[in-house]
Amino acid sequence: MWQAKTIMMNGELVPFERAAIHPLSLAVTYATTVFEGIRAYKLAEPGRFAFFRLREHLDRLRFGMKVMRMAPALEHDYLADCLTRVLRANEPDDDVYIRLLVYIEGQGLMATTGPIGFTAAAMPRERPRFAETGMTLGVSSWSRLSDNASPPRVKATANYHNARLTQMQAKADGYDGALMLTPAGKVSETPIACFFMVREGRLITPGPSSNILESVTRDTLLTLYREWRGEPAEVREVDRSELYLADEAFVCGTGQEIIPVVSIDRLPVGDGQPGPLTRQLQARYFDAVRGASGQHPEWRTVI
Ligand SMILES: Cc1ncc(COP(=O)(O)O)c(C=O)c1O
Repeated sequence: MWQAKTIMMNGELVPFERAAIHPLSLAVTYATTVFEGIRAYKLAEPGRFAFFRLREHLDRLRFGMKVMRMAPALEHDYLADCLTRVLRANEPDDDVYIRLLVYIEGQGLMATTGPIGFTAAAMPRERPRFAETGMTLGVSSWSRLSDNASPPRVKATANYHNARLTQMQAKADGYDGALMLTPAGKVSETPIACFFMVREGRLITPGPSSNILESVTRDTLLTLYREWRGEPAEVREVDRSELYLADEAFVCGTGQEIIPVVSIDRLPVGDGQPGPLTRQLQARYFDAVRGASGQHPEWRTVI
């Protein structure tokens, strides 16, 4: 597997191990960072890659900067050019995962708004190991952050304190991952991915008011499902006990792609194996990201 050797900081390429940020920056002291995980998939044509849904990732980043009152905004064209440069500089020979972080580099009091810095790191990323076998989830006793406290709709690193507590508890309890509930007890999402379930042939996923990140992958799957089945999925609240009625379940995200869920709270999901609808959506998703079927060219930025 290829190795990351160069990282971009504020538009300059620097050796990977030399990247540094001051410990007194607001980014470190108050977690004033928004970020994106973006994939660039290797295409069949040598040396070509396609960023998947780059515009939507950059839109969400810009939204996060606005909510966190970081100024000035970074232009999409400039960031897209930086991502292309950092990808090329690393000479990958396989799929690339890019982590793009924008943060307040300035030091000072909490209301400091700048200067803004950014880092783009291009890294190899193995296919998640549960993609074939499926994973086990446990419902967490930690609640998902609520919109009026630390909005999950903003992809801020600060939100991953809640996510990490949840993840660490799940690991300690012997699960592969966690599922979080809102403070009102409705199903929300996992620490790093959104949640879908299938019940009696219908695809169901919690909506944005269930304190989820408005995931690009979730939106992709909702679109692919509607086009494939000719009807929309159900976007609605899900009770904890409805989880135990699921015939299939899976989680999704840019990094996770689509991972089947085979049990929740040690109760099998369906027959305890990855389900057929999940497998279909996995196949359609991988077609879409590499453009195999040629559909949705607007989703791929080819470089
Ligand atoms: C909490 C959370 N939910 C959902 C997702 C999936 O989002 P996306 O599909 O935009 O990568 C992620 C991934 O970054 C995440 O961290």
